[in-house]
Amino acid sequence: MKDATALPQSLLVLGGTSGIALATARRLIARRTRTVWLAGRPSVALENAAGSLRALGADVHTTAFDALDPESHESAVGKVFAQGPVDMVLLAFGVLGDQAHDERDPVRAARVAGTNYTGAVSAGLVAGRALQTQGHGSFVVLSAAAAERARRADFIYGSSKAGLDAFAQGLGDALYGTGVHVMVVRPGSVRTSGTAGRPPAPFTTTPEAVAKAVELGLRRGSETVWVPGSLRPVLSALRHTPRALYRRLPV
Ligand SMILES: NC(=O)c1ccc[n+]([C@@H]2O[C@H](COP(=O)([O-])OP(=O)(O)OC[C@H]3O[C@@H](n4cnc5c(N)ncnc54)[C@H](OP(=O)(O)O)[C@@H]3O)[C@@H](O)[C@H]2O)c1
Repeated sequence: MKDATALPQSLLVLGGTSGIALATARRLIARRTRTVWLAGRPSVALENAAGSLRALGADVHTTAFDALDPESHESAVGKVFAQGPVDMVLLAFGVLGDQAHDERDPVRAARVAGTNYTGAVSAGLVAGRALQTQGHGSFVVLSAAAAERARRADFIYGSSKAGLDAFAQGLGDALYGTGVHVMVVRPGSVRTSGTAGRPPAPFTTTPEAVAKAVELGLRRGSETVWVPGSLRPVLSALRHTPRALYRRLPV
């Protein structure tokens, strides 16, 4: 197990209003983090999020970032790294979409994929290279348990997360030995604004539980983190369930 120096002094969040990211930032500020960059689409919510972290004593900045505008990622991320070392980048942006609606609206479905997958490919490559150039750091990617196997009920979101997850694993292998640590986090359903109004799912967890798991994963240098941990064997079993049976399961 690594010591406390595995925890970042400086943090860049891509998706700065994410409930999970803000819980993680709060936890890391209570440990060791002093500087936080919240990157996101400019909004009152983004400024309020920055204010809430400043109240904890951190030096917090906001900066514009749009996952759906890959041409801007180099300059958006580069601007932050130009200000000083970034010990951890947390890729937290993502949209759930509305499966029933999006199946009938392919343009909206493509926005889900474009945000969760292609936006992350671009931002991930930019952040990975910036960390590699710097010579150290962690790149933590919020994937999802849903990435393990797409479900009838949300296969647009699930497939975008499966793509993100595979990409992040590959990036982790590409950066192995460079001083950059890539960690893929796979939460089950988490109670945040993104899931508000949805019926409670089995294994539902909290942003604070994800934050705790992220801290532990950083200390251990983990490559994959499930939240809760008990999801891992369950999803492994589901992954190997025959299609004919799987499509009839109420998952
Ligand atoms: N909540 C869950 O049940 C759950 C479970 C597993 C995995 N995850 C994943 O964990 C991550 C964080 O989830 P969360 O529940 O904390 O999310 P959340 O509170 O709904 O926040 C989502 C974040 O994504 C940002 N975002 C969406 N589209 C964007 C774009 N085009 N450009 C930049 N930012 C964009 C949002 O920014 P705006 O403020 O601009 O909208 C917001 O900061 C997501 O990737 C999600 O898929 C969530």
